[in-house]
Amino acid sequence: MTETRHAYEGLRAWVEARTGLSLTPDRRASVDLVIAGAMARAGLGEDVQEYRRRLEADDDLLDDLLAELTVGETYFFREPAQFQFLRHTVLPEIRRRKEGDHVLRAWSAGCASGEEAYSLAILFLEEGVADHCRLLATDLSRAMLRKARRGLYGAWSLRGEGAEAARPYLKPQGTHYAVAEHVRRLVTWDCLNLARDVYPSPATGVWGMDLILCRNVLIYFDRETVRRVARRLYDALAAGGWLLTASTDPPLAEDAPLETVVSDQGVFYRRGPRPASRPIRRGGEPTPEAAAPAEPTPAEAPPEPRPPAMPEPWPRASGTLPSPLGADWSETALRIRALANEDVAEAERACAAATEQHPLASELHYLRAVLLVDLGRDEEAIQAARRAIYLDRSLAIVHFTLGSLLERRGDRAGAWRAYRNVRDLCRAGSAEEIVRLTDGVPAGRLAGAAEARLAQLETAREACR
Ligand SMILES: C[S@@+](CC[C@H](N)C(=O)[O-])C[C@H]1O[C@@H](n2cnc3c(N)ncnc32)[C@H](O)[C@@H]1O
Repeated sequence: MTETRHAYEGLRAWVEARTGLSLTPDRRASVDLVIAGAMARAGLGEDVQEYRRRLEADDDLLDDLLAELTVGETYFFREPAQFQFLRHTVLPEIRRRKEGDHVLRAWSAGCASGEEAYSLAILFLEEGVADHCRLLATDLSRAMLRKARRGLYGAWSLRGEGAEAARPYLKPQGTHYAVAEHVRRLVTWDCLNLARDVYPSPATGVWGMDLILCRNVLIYFDRETVRRVARRLYDALAAGGWLLTASTDPPLAEDAPLETVVSDQGVFYRRGPRPASRPIRRGGEPTPEAAAPAEPTPAEAPPEPRPPAMPEPWPRASGTLPSPLGADWSETALRIRALANEDVAEAERACAAATEQHPLASELHYLRAVLLVDLGRDEEAIQAARRAIYLDRSLAIVHFTLGSLLERRGDRAGAWRAYRNVRDLCRAGSAEEIVRLTDGVPAGRLAGAAEARLAQLETAREACR
């Protein structure tokens, strides 16, 4: 082993120990590339030892490296079923339990470029709790936080099936959308490394939370760090407070004394509703002395004839890292999706190259189709969706996307066939099963949406006779 390789190995081990990130051996090459890039930016050439000394002394430098090792992919109202649960279950429950002037304390932990926090702010406005809320959003990446504070997004941030809910609060600005001032005002942004033992604490503003969203972040941590973060999230909750993780995140029930609430909208966690040990006064600060399920969600209306949600594609194993290389297509896809947050056209070009490198990866063809839709290139999107289906006929969501595109193009017969395929595929198994490549959409719901489209196409055909 050369000296340099040895130095890299030592640095990787140190980063893992310090941050809890899981830099598994199969990611070694890509992690080393990221490290080399970060050293070059710091003007250190190949001097790994010196870089490590600086990392030990400079938290900002370390945070910058960590931000490179994780991916900030996100969009408005991601996993919309969870927002339904917040609207119909969590907020009414907190209202019932707390006094009228209670300040609702909420935290988007690992907020990336801010879409999640703004989605919460919108929800709070619509549910009439915005006047009495403290909404904190934190991330490790300062670059992400800068973007979040700007509140300016491309159409790509609106790709989820729930994202329409954000539109009334966005003002078109050239090719982008600016978050309305009254929404922006509701969110406080800060830099916080969840793996560090600095919270809950008044200094970080993280304490006594009624609601924490920590979604798609725990996947970056090793098992031990997940355990420690879960415990700290629990400690940061007020009595009776709610914790939401993403459907793809590791389960936490064994890591902290959280109650698990299973509902039609997913699995949620709660801290037991014992009396609060720290009285909270209006304004949301601890008092000086302290210093320190309801109605079921109504069925959703079938989606409009537009390509449906950007999926939450390809399973992401706990503790794996995306690679900047193209060696593994699923990691490449993750990178492309993150890139799309910045520049959809560039992401589409990268995706086209990736499909050449991995021509049999149906998911990549589908991702390309979704990106092409976003760019308004429907005909190419149809071709890409067809290629994905050719490779894997069982991808119901791709049939649905194809149906939507064909319907938009006026090809009713083609759309009808595509929706029929969706219905047949989704009705073949359990209604609860999550449709592959989707953001937690159950088969029954997608089947219902396809049936609604089929019925509408039938009605239109009858009317033409
Ligand atoms: C995939 S994004 C999740 C965004 C949002 N929560 C969502 O679900 O859409 C993951 C974010 O976690 C952040 N992150 C990764 N490790 C972190 C850590 N140790 N502390 C805080 N944030 C971290 C990354 O910077 C990135 O912005």
